[in-house]
Amino acid sequence: MTELLLATRNAGKKREIADSLCSGAVLLSLLSLDEVDAGGEVEESGKTFAENSRLKADFYSRLSGLTTLGDDSGLEVLALGGRPGVRSARYAGAGASDEMRIEKLLAEMKDITDRRARFVSAVCISRNGSPLASFIGTVEGEILRQKRGNGGFGYDPLFLYPPLGKTFAELSLAEKNKISHRARALAQAREFILNAGLG
Ligand code: IMP
Repeated sequence: MTELLLATRNAGKKREIADSLCSGAVLLSLLSLDEVDAGGEVEESGKTFAENSRLKADFYSRLSGLTTLGDDSGLEVLALGGRPGVRSARYAGAGASDEMRIEKLLAEMKDITDRRARFVSAVCISRNGSPLASFIGTVEGEILRQKRGNGGFGYDPLFLYPPLGKTFAELSLAEKNKISHRARALAQAREFILNAGLG
């Protein structure tokens, strides 16, 4: 079975990637950075999600010798000019918790009535330090004024998905994986993997 390295240590993302990628005809053995000794950490210095997903995929595919899927994702709030954007994970500083990021976003948006936002996911598949293909997925929603739901991770409890009237934290993993930004990018990656005969 083909091995694919996932360039992440985030357990929530790993679960979602495995669930989206490994269905039907795709037969892959997924490894994460915790399972291979890739050595070193990549700096997420890109200005866009696409740049960062490529930095991760190129870096870890070169170090590990494995075909590697890098992803970068985050939340863009329209009224904040797209912030927190590529800084979504670092929005409340290094070492801050999801809870602290949520509190910071609620405080920053206290007087903002335009609550429109979107999640973006960029995915890049690389081999030997060079990209084979890259994909983008997005999903539009609204930032609530308080948290709702216990599932998911990150900003999910604040992100209302209007077509279902629920936040991402109120969806099951299966429901989230039908509509999420990451699912949309990974559906394209899955097609590529099938067509290129990688899995
Ligand atoms: P990354 O690990 O550099 O891609 O950082 C992504 C950050 O964006 C995460 O730490 C979350 O704060 C946020 N994020 C990305 N995708 C999601 C999602 O599906 N739900 C909630 N937050 C997300």
